[in-house]
Amino acid sequence: MPTTRRALFRVLPPAWFAYSQALKAADSNDTYWHLIKREFPLDESLIYLNAANVCPASRMVLDRYQQFLRDFHANPSFQNREKYVPLEDRLRGKIADLLNVTADEIALTRNTSEGSNLVVRGIDLKPGDEVVITSHNHPSNNDSWKVRASRDGFKVVSVDVKVPAVSAAQLVDSIKGATTSRTKVISVTHVTSTTGIRFPAREIAAFARERGIWMHLDGAQSFGAIDVNLRDIACDSFSASAHKWSMGPLEAGLLFVRSERHRQLWPSIVTAGWSDKLVGARKFEVFGQRDDARLVSFESAIDFLAMMGMPKVEARLTELTSRLKQQFAKVDGAVLRTNLEPSLSGGVVKVDLPKHDLKQVYDRLWNEHKIAIAMTPSGDSRGLRFSPHVYNTTTEIDRAVEAFRQVARS
Ligand SMILES: Cc1ncc(COP(=O)(O)O)c(C=O)c1O
Repeated sequence: MPTTRRALFRVLPPAWFAYSQALKAADSNDTYWHLIKREFPLDESLIYLNAANVCPASRMVLDRYQQFLRDFHANPSFQNREKYVPLEDRLRGKIADLLNVTADEIALTRNTSEGSNLVVRGIDLKPGDEVVITSHNHPSNNDSWKVRASRDGFKVVSVDVKVPAVSAAQLVDSIKGATTSRTKVISVTHVTSTTGIRFPAREIAAFARERGIWMHLDGAQSFGAIDVNLRDIACDSFSASAHKWSMGPLEAGLLFVRSERHRQLWPSIVTAGWSDKLVGARKFEVFGQRDDARLVSFESAIDFLAMMGMPKVEARLTELTSRLKQQFAKVDGAVLRTNLEPSLSGGVVKVDLPKHDLKQVYDRLWNEHKIAIAMTPSGDSRGLRFSPHVYNTTTEIDRAVEAFRQVARS
């Protein structure tokens, strides 16, 4: 049975009670977000704006990881390790609550790439079939389709994405336009890592469902950043990583597969513990011995998100990214590559300085200002990528823009 999304608060660890009370008592927005920031062991001299790549894990995650890692190695007996089965089930349940699906639809993976590749490899496809992708998907969701297509002889059709996006309708139409009666899969990215376009996933999924097409959604840049409701989107599969916006451990992730589709997806890895009788998406995650301590620490990341509430996290990201975008738009020579509209964007902001050597700007921001961002040197997503998260303050955003302005001037 699906639990309600808000039921998460019921199971907040007791040790967090005082902290969650302090958050509730915060008398201003600034106090609230400073309390959140304090939970991250980030170097204070750094302005870390690269959430789209890797987020720091909170102290709660690190403490729990360390606690279970020590426990595991102090007593690696089967008897001691039995406890991980219910703990991992509870993790599946909490992820499912956050995404508004059921625990049996969640597989625990190593990251987004692994989840997407399980879908790429697991669906029956033959010569004559077609798969629709977009030019702004990550390689784990594009090159993986192309590699399989060259092995199995089906066709991959890539939709060219316009930057910034023209409109939600245009994005949907571009996918529809690439689809034929032979299309078996549509594989798109919820929020792109290249320029931060938010795809209208629900509309694309509705179109796919009417035609029996499998719709895979890459959620690397949406899980933990925006309030993702997979029951509402109604895609067939969704993959994400713990170490990005959900601020969890490295090498943990999730793959959602809609229960009606389980029979159509082959497991890609089969080893001891696998059985056709395994319930739900557990069939897709039998990978041999796992780092159970790490998976258990992922639960703290989910608790942390649930404690803030995803609508609040998303609203904060909109506040921080809008502040960045509005100020970048006023810098002489700067070209914004991300849409201003929150409905067409997420936590990723891309800005270009077409007349500058971008690598020099990137290096100066790091060497002179200790601003950690990402860079795309060329192509239609050329620019500097700023991706803030809940541990960033508005002061850091303003300092980053000021540094950018100074570098752009000289
Ligand atoms: C959209 C998207 N998909 C997939 C990935 C791959 O993520 P991971 O390395 O965690 O598998 C990334 C990484 O940045 C990404 O941005």
